[in-house]
Amino acid sequence: MALPVNQAPELSDAAFATWQDIIEERIGLQLPEQRRSFLKTCLSIRMREVGFDDYLAYYNHICDGDTGLIEWNRLMDRLTVQETRFFRDPVAFSLVKDHLQNRLKLSSAPLSLWSVGCSSGEEAYSLGITAQELLSSTPEANATRYGVTGTDISREALSLANAGSYSPRRLESIDSSLTGRYFTQQGHKYQIVQSVKDRTCFVRLNLLQLAGSPLKNLDVIYCQNVLIYFRKWRRKDIVTELADRLAPGGLLVLGLGDMVDWSHPELTRVPGEHVLAYFKRK
Ligand SMILES: C[S@@+](CC[C@H](N)C(=O)[O-])C[C@H]1O[C@@H](n2cnc3c(N)ncnc32)[C@H](O)[C@@H]1O
Repeated sequence: MALPVNQAPELSDAAFATWQDIIEERIGLQLPEQRRSFLKTCLSIRMREVGFDDYLAYYNHICDGDTGLIEWNRLMDRLTVQETRFFRDPVAFSLVKDHLQNRLKLSSAPLSLWSVGCSSGEEAYSLGITAQELLSSTPEANATRYGVTGTDISREALSLANAGSYSPRRLESIDSSLTGRYFTQQGHKYQIVQSVKDRTCFVRLNLLQLAGSPLKNLDVIYCQNVLIYFRKWRRKDIVTELADRLAPGGLLVLGLGDMVDWSHPELTRVPGEHVLAYFKRK
């Protein structure tokens, strides 16, 4: 029986623990006691939409074969935080630009960049714009190509990223000269230009299944505002795996505070307290 509007049943300790376990096991997202009401709200809204009034019955449903998997993916879109902005961390983007500039002095090989947990695409396109700006202002490098891959677990976020169409409000964090060069107005929305879109691809990837990803030899791996939701031991495993996928000399950018007491034999921390980033030794 579907729930009456505005009425969510109590989430018992046992049901909370069951949901906490499966969510962490499948996507790494940790939901401590403080986020219990968030989980209850997400579940109860979705349960109302699909006609369940019991958390454990809904749990059994999402564990049940292919139909369960489809429903699990829908639920995951609600559970994951997808907040993002273009050029969200200007200090980190400036570091990326300097790094690419130095890389271009060493080799004309294509630049490859990865936005890990790209949400609706703003971060991946910001990396693309950074690379394209640099290449067009460096005459000796104008034959060099670049490619950006954005990965995320949320299908809904990836479909927005693929569309590359944003409301004017979402462009507020971009320098207006860049907006003019990299977006075209289409009705009430702004579309990322085809030249950047053609060099950006979006792929579904669960960070807990990184080992199966073919991505490697990256010049830049950019992973911000994703690891904060994971346990410390899991962050270390993920970041170690990311480090292995950097090209020699490549740059790994994380979010400030993502990693504490972590080091990697092949990485050197970029100096500075406003950014958490590492170079892979050549
Ligand atoms: C807060 S957004 C960050 C977006 C962007 N990186 C930024 O900093 O603006 C976090 C993204 O991580 C994704 N995410 C969460 N858990 C994930 C997992 N296990 N594997 C891949 N992506 C995940 C979410 O779907 C969401 O789009």
